[in-house]
Amino acid sequence: MWDKILDKLQDAKKIVFVTGAGISQESGIPTFRGKDGLWRKYDPMQLATIDAFYDNPKLVWEWYEERRRNILDAKPNPGHLAISELAKYRDVSVLTQNIDGLHQRAGSKNVYELHGSIITIKCTVCSFKDKITTGFLQLPPLCKCGNMLRPDVVWFGETLPQDVWGSAMEKASSCDLMIVVGTSLAVSPANLLPVYAKQNGATMIEVNPEPTAVSQSMDLSLRESAANALPGLIDTISSF
Ligand code: APR
Repeated sequence: MWDKILDKLQDAKKIVFVTGAGISQESGIPTFRGKDGLWRKYDPMQLATIDAFYDNPKLVWEWYEERRRNILDAKPNPGHLAISELAKYRDVSVLTQNIDGLHQRAGSKNVYELHGSIITIKCTVCSFKDKITTGFLQLPPLCKCGNMLRPDVVWFGETLPQDVWGSAMEKASSCDLMIVVGTSLAVSPANLLPVYAKQNGATMIEVNPEPTAVSQSMDLSLRESAANALPGLIDTISSF
């Protein structure tokens, strides 16, 4: 299995990582659909849709504030750090579904946040958008224009930020090697990215303790956790 793709790893110039909640699980951030996943405890239709937000903005804000505190307390793990390390040797892009900012905190530069960021807010009406620096005196917080602020994340039924999605499709369609880490690929359009890479003849690797919807089309599947598998895999790639 390894010998078959070692040559491909040696020649890979443009490397794209597609990541999901699993890469941050070992940083203490729960996944969505795993055993202790958020969607096992909470109903996404009550917390992660625009209708839910307008039905009960205080409830939705309280939930995102709790997640934001948990995320700010978390630290990048060896999986995040290995990816940022590889960028010293190869052209690396990270297409992430995660809103936690841990790739950037690990030092990764070319990070495309497909589902937004929990540390950014935007106005529901005007074009105001900014990073959150402190807590809020009231929930829901209001914009200077008087309208409600919302977390700058992509909720179910909403479209992805088109500039980010455009770049992500371009990166996936032109990479030599795609490494899919810690995602069930249960949501679209993010789950199309491996298809674009495969169509471009890229070498495909998956890092996930569990099989996923794309396991069949992988050249190599590492059934390990991200923090365990990525440092070794990246040492191998950067050793060439
Ligand atoms: N290392 C690697 N993979 C892991 C680890 C780990 N330590 N722990 C769990 N996994 C794997 C699980 O086996 C699962 O396949 O990570 C995946 C997590 O899948 P989900 O919980 O479905 O999370 P994700 O794929 O990121 O969800 C996609 O759905 O809910 C929406 O917007 C949300 O961005 C999210 C999107």
